[in-house]
Amino acid sequence: MDFKVILGKIKPDENEEREMKLFTEKLLTISSKLSRKVKPILCGSVEKGTWISKKSEIDLFLLFNPDVSKKELENKGLNLAKKIVSILKGKYQIAFAEHPYLRGWVGKYQIDIVPCYSIKDPEKIKSAVDRTPHHVKFVKSSLKNPDEVRLLKQFMIANKCYGADVKTQGFSGYLCELLIIKYNNFMNCIKNASKWRAGYVISFNDIDKEFVFKKFKSPLVVIDPVDRNRNVGAPVSAEVFYRFVKACTDFIEKPSKEFFFPSETKP
Ligand code: UTP
Ligand code: MN
Ligand code: MN
Repeated sequence: MDFKVILGKIKPDENEEREMKLFTEKLLTISSKLSRKVKPILCGSVEKGTWISKKSEIDLFLLFNPDVSKKELENKGLNLAKKIVSILKGKYQIAFAEHPYLRGWVGKYQIDIVPCYSIKDPEKIKSAVDRTPHHVKFVKSSLKNPDEVRLLKQFMIANKCYGADVKTQGFSGYLCELLIIKYNNFMNCIKNASKWRAGYVISFNDIDKEFVFKKFKSPLVVIDPVDRNRNVGAPVSAEVFYRFVKACTDFIEKPSKEFFFPSETKP
């Protein structure tokens, strides 16, 4: 199995990278000019170098001081986000996760603009999105081989395992990154995952096993390295868990491009 061929299709080439860099620089410049009180930073796969070619989605986080009220954060954050997208002559829509954020479209780029609090200790956050900047920091300092994440993400996408949304109930981008940090590379991750049984626990620090078993009950438990009270594997349903494990077993038995690009090679 030649993973270089797969990467050739999913890794952004120099041009795409350069375009992305120019666009995100512009985005950050505009954002920081609009408000002195808010710190804009890139989070998500673009910042971590794990984004997949042609999936030009950017996650821009607007960091507020924790003394700002939740209401003010939402109002100011969304207004600022609207201004940013308008300056870039794009369209937008308000979206909701745990709290509202803005989804914008500028040319081929989709931009998720998320207002959050800047909080030093990730175990003392005010809302779930406040953890994200800490995730980015952890991944950037621990991930040595982002291309291996790209392989894993594409494998997950092709096998309908990618996405932590309620509809998919699968693996988030951050979870894929953690798996590669744990197992070093794609193939080693697949080999290990093929032996997972429901209730499998992955951790990055010393853990109290009793505490973990009592607190987390899901097919895959991955203790968040930045917050031991959070299970990054929680969104993964039993169905997706077993689908992934089976795909890993099948891939080991007979590796092929089919596991990355199903429709292309099917008869
Ligand atoms: P993404 O879903 O965009 O994931 O969330 P990603 O890591 O960039 O991967 P791809 O390549 O786009 O698929 C970006 C970050 O925003 C946080 C997640 O923790 C993630 O690290 N996030 C996303 C939230 O906190 N809440 C959400 O509703 C969505
Ligand atoms: Mn993203
Ligand atoms: Mn996003």
